[in-house]
Amino acid sequence: RTGAWELCDLAVSVAREAAGLVRARRAAGIGHVATKSTETDVVTSADRAAERLITDRIRQARPADRILGEESGTHAGDSPVTWVVDPIDGTVNYVYGLGHYGVSIAARVADVTVAGVVRDIDSGAEWRAVRGGGAWRDDRRLTGSEVTDLGVALVATGFGYQPDRRARQGAVVGGLLPHIRDIRRFGSAALDLCLAAEGLVDAFYETGLNMWDYAAGGIVAEEAGLRVTGLSGEPAGAGMVLAAPAALYGPLHDRLVELHARAA
Ligand code: IPD
Repeated sequence: RTGAWELCDLAVSVAREAAGLVRARRAAGIGHVATKSTETDVVTSADRAAERLITDRIRQARPADRILGEESGTHAGDSPVTWVVDPIDGTVNYVYGLGHYGVSIAARVADVTVAGVVRDIDSGAEWRAVRGGGAWRDDRRLTGSEVTDLGVALVATGFGYQPDRRARQGAVVGGLLPHIRDIRRFGSAALDLCLAAEGLVDAFYETGLNMWDYAAGGIVAEEAGLRVTGLSGEPAGAGMVLAAPAALYGPLHDRLVELHARAA
């Protein structure tokens, strides 16, 4: 195993260990909960402990790599590899004990994600992908949804933390609902992208995500054959992450462009 496969193997083993830590902590109670930018933006002591474990393990294995973590910012390094880490994506679900929160770890080289793993901490389900090597849930290769008609598509989305953004996101969802089968808001963008990769939802979109929310799930969706872009076809980013199988991408993209222009 060399290159991106090696990075993927490391991400998988570190994600498993971090998930074990978070599960053990959750079993003992929620731990300390604090808010960040707004009341909806929460962080717990488990997020911090899991991120510390992940960064420690990556540094032990690959001391020169850079690390970008949700809770601790950037760790410098002079290797071309940058790890993008979300210790608990779906922290609100974690706090409420709802399930559906995951560890997300991606490896990027020259601004391109080359490997990623997302592990559902509660259920133990695990999705991983290597650029050019496919997307997998355990040993099953993923190929996304076969739905071709937007009218019967189940679309996952999420909402950010800033009140004005949430109001615009709500307006866009309101405009989309009459044109799709239904909306799901599960609470973890990383896992939602994996559900889209697996075809358990037909597509996913969200505005205003941070890279740690979508880097690993994004490569899983891409390697499952979905188109993963921003709103104008550019690479997925903070502006928009839209992931859809080829047949749904065009109509969903066009509808979202129109609704975002109206909500702006
Ligand atoms: C959040 C989740 C949520 C999405 C938010 C994210 P966090 O990440 O992915 O589904 O709608 O935009 O910030 O804060 O739980 O790591």
